[in-house]
Amino acid sequence: MTNQHAPATPDLPLDMIIFGGGGDLAARKLLPALYMAHLHCNLPPDTRILAIGRRDWSREQYLSFMEEQSKPFVDKKALDPAAWDKYLSLFEYVRVDVDQADDYARLAEASRKGVRRVFYLATSPNLFTTICDNLSGASLVDEHSRVVLEKPLGHDLASAQEINTAVAKHFSEAQIYRIDHYLGKETVQNLMVLRFGNAIFGPLWQAPYIKSVQITVAETVGVGSRAGFYDETGALRDMVQNHLLQLLCIVAMEPPVSLDPDAVRDEKLKVLRSLRRMTPEDISRDTVRGQYTAGAVGGEPVKGYLQEDNVPEGSRAETFVALRARIDNWRWANVPFFLRTGKRMAKKVSEIVIEFSEMPFSIIPSGPRNYGNRLVIQLQPEESIQLQMLAKEPGSGMHMLPVNLNLDLQQAFTERRAEAYERLLIDVVRGRLTHFMRRDELEAAWAWAEPILEGWQKSGERPRGYTAGTYGPAASTALMARENAVWSEESQ
Ligand code: BG6
Repeated sequence: MTNQHAPATPDLPLDMIIFGGGGDLAARKLLPALYMAHLHCNLPPDTRILAIGRRDWSREQYLSFMEEQSKPFVDKKALDPAAWDKYLSLFEYVRVDVDQADDYARLAEASRKGVRRVFYLATSPNLFTTICDNLSGASLVDEHSRVVLEKPLGHDLASAQEINTAVAKHFSEAQIYRIDHYLGKETVQNLMVLRFGNAIFGPLWQAPYIKSVQITVAETVGVGSRAGFYDETGALRDMVQNHLLQLLCIVAMEPPVSLDPDAVRDEKLKVLRSLRRMTPEDISRDTVRGQYTAGAVGGEPVKGYLQEDNVPEGSRAETFVALRARIDNWRWANVPFFLRTGKRMAKKVSEIVIEFSEMPFSIIPSGPRNYGNRLVIQLQPEESIQLQMLAKEPGSGMHMLPVNLNLDLQQAFTERRAEAYERLLIDVVRGRLTHFMRRDELEAAWAWAEPILEGWQKSGERPRGYTAGTYGPAASTALMARENAVWSEESQ
């Protein structure tokens, strides 16, 4: 598989071409991120942005859409009227029905010659093949082009392979940016620095010194207006197959030889290939899926999943997953990795908890028994790293109490943090592939996730109900308890 950096031609003007330009992702994430990149002069000087949509809009209508649907998502403090107007001046709107090969002539006319074209496919993945074929048919793809593919890429392994093969007919691997916005988060990138920049963790970062690892991405939001997409997808495909597995890879990978895209991705691939495929017995023992029922989040009553708009009656889509993964290699043999994600949970929090093994023997009689230090890396909503330790309680006796060594990254660095999409879009423009998934990585992630999806389907069981505003079904606590572990919020 060829994976060199894309040819370095930094000075080419840029045509950023967004398919799904009138969609939700563009409005909420991509257009605000591009505005920030523009504001901070991170787009090439001669950039144009071509928004592609099916609707028969004029340019003015598209700009009104941006004002109404996108501007509210720009950080208020960063909204500078002159910069926003300048930003709007970069835009064109081109109506293209992506299935109609003839419509691409309009795009070919609108896009300039001698520029770098970045095609951002913010559409359903089942359109990726058609779009790439038609772009190529209209001679819009050349050696300078790049294509960004949104997640989830495919529905299962076969569909992911099919899309990858189809896209590879027109773009080399070095031109393909498979985006997982978790890889653009400052704290996720910082995890590499924590692991590979601090010698103290090196010797301890393995079995038997680490007892368990837990990765939680909990959201308070429900399915919102995305039921059409979400009900077909579910939490395993939406979050675990990509975001959570990527976090797992960064925690578990061997030190790469450098930060080059392939060096990093080779190591992540090895982790994905070491993940043990689950048998039907593993699936019923080691996975829990849930679906939220009516409850309250942040003091406000909220509907259950089945009552949300456009959710089919009796839907079995899971809005919560907890599972125990096993990594079969020397470093991690027998260390359980617990992954958990859900919508309508008690709190928005993304965190990684590394639980170290207990002391082999304690000479201090008074204090918590069987205590293992915990390194808690919080990614959201606040960025922080805490090392939970035992210290002596002041006084005449020898009594130990848990305390935290606390690294508050927000306070330590006051610089502006670019949002994940902004950072990744700049990477695309500059040809930096390190924080994007390679084809083999993505397919290895599907190869692990697919048996779980099949197992659930075969079992015919409904997901367990959990009340909105809680931490998911009780069975997820039992999953941990079997390994003598507890979820982070239960240990506080
Ligand atoms: C997206 C999922 O990839 O990630 C959404 O499709 C989810 O369902 C979102 O809400 C979570 O991202 P973040 O950055 O808010 O944690």
